[in-house]
Amino acid sequence: MHGEFIISKDPRLDWKTLLPSFQRNASFFSPNEKAIYQLFWARNGIYHGLAALGVKPGENVLVPAYHCKSLVEPIVQGGGGVKFYDTSIDLNPDFSDIKKKIDHKTRAILAVHYFGFPQPIQKFRELCDAYNLFLIEDCAHVLTGRTPNGTWLGETGDISVFSWRKFLPIPDGGQLLINNANAKCKINFEKGDFLFRLKIAKNTFDALLESSKIGQCVAAVLGFPSNVIRKWMLLNRNGPKTLKVNSYDLEFDLAAVNLQMTALSKRILQRSDISAVMKRRRDNYICVTDAVRTMVGVAPLFPFLPEEICPWVFPLVVHEIEDLQMILRAKGIPVTSWGGVIHQALPLDKFPNARFLYKNLLFLPIHQNLESEDLRTMVGILRETLNERGRIDQSRKSLGSIDVKSSPLLPTIR
Ligand SMILES: Cc1ncc(COP(=O)(O)O)c(C=O)c1O
Repeated sequence: MHGEFIISKDPRLDWKTLLPSFQRNASFFSPNEKAIYQLFWARNGIYHGLAALGVKPGENVLVPAYHCKSLVEPIVQGGGGVKFYDTSIDLNPDFSDIKKKIDHKTRAILAVHYFGFPQPIQKFRELCDAYNLFLIEDCAHVLTGRTPNGTWLGETGDISVFSWRKFLPIPDGGQLLINNANAKCKINFEKGDFLFRLKIAKNTFDALLESSKIGQCVAAVLGFPSNVIRKWMLLNRNGPKTLKVNSYDLEFDLAAVNLQMTALSKRILQRSDISAVMKRRRDNYICVTDAVRTMVGVAPLFPFLPEEICPWVFPLVVHEIEDLQMILRAKGIPVTSWGGVIHQALPLDKFPNARFLYKNLLFLPIHQNLESEDLRTMVGILRETLNERGRIDQSRKSLGSIDVKSSPLLPTIR
């Protein structure tokens, strides 16, 4: 078991990545050796990147209506306004809507390479150049990847941000890449107070212990120091406010905006075998696509996996079944969605496509530590659940109690 789940939600931390080694992922993270800033979170990169470009309070940034609030809040807390633009149901940007939304206060457009799949970033670039706007390239779902014409994801925007913690077993880790030579980035990096660093160390220590059978045995003996740290932290909880270190926390905290990526995360990032991570994620993605193609009621959002991209998760479009995410989670599958992370400034009623996606797009895990057996378990439970629901809906239909209509917004589903 993996906590409340029967397959693991996140990649496992391997002891080996902490041992001394000569391996270094150097140029990988800055393909052309441009200015990079390693931050605690990618959202902090958006905040500092906009400041570096000189976007001022009162000016606005166009962001997609389908988003995670952690990419919107740094703009708002930096004093900027946000205006939302539409995408299609398969997440293609609606350029005519974008053009309509540009006004005299617009300074930048933000594009998200959703789930690691490239957006038409060159088209964004041309539009920004035509209107004299900055392009923010959000690569938070990108480990590495290129557009069909070979450009690295992250190289086209005036700035781009990455979120390594989404791909690797690290507690923190974001990156700001500045491509615009005129941008002036100044970050007064902070390490966080002692209690904060202790929390990070404790979380990593716990993750290590959980990661292997030997670790679990060691935990039985060495769990003791971890508990002592926890108790000590509890005793100190009324002291000065310490920052949150929970990876699932999506709030933006100005008090944490200058935090640098921890030394531990930098070390793990440098020692991780990125090509192997990419290969496993791609293999897992293809395996889940093949299984899902034959199911009724769901469909892959991206049925084809382009060369040279590394998917973050498997986005699954759900047809008609209201509560599939909850059912799957109750059965031990760590499925997520963006249904609960919508920024409060979004007028959802005006964006039916985004509303559809918040409700009907689920994210299945395909990370590098999921074995074939785990994937079989996951798709087996998904298939079984769809069959059960199909039978329930069928009997309701025949009773005439519920009118099951397909939405005109739904993509074609086999
Ligand atoms: C598209 C997108 N951009 C930015 C972020 C922020 O990344 P981080 O959590 O590293 O701050 C997220 C986080 O989920 C995201 O999904």
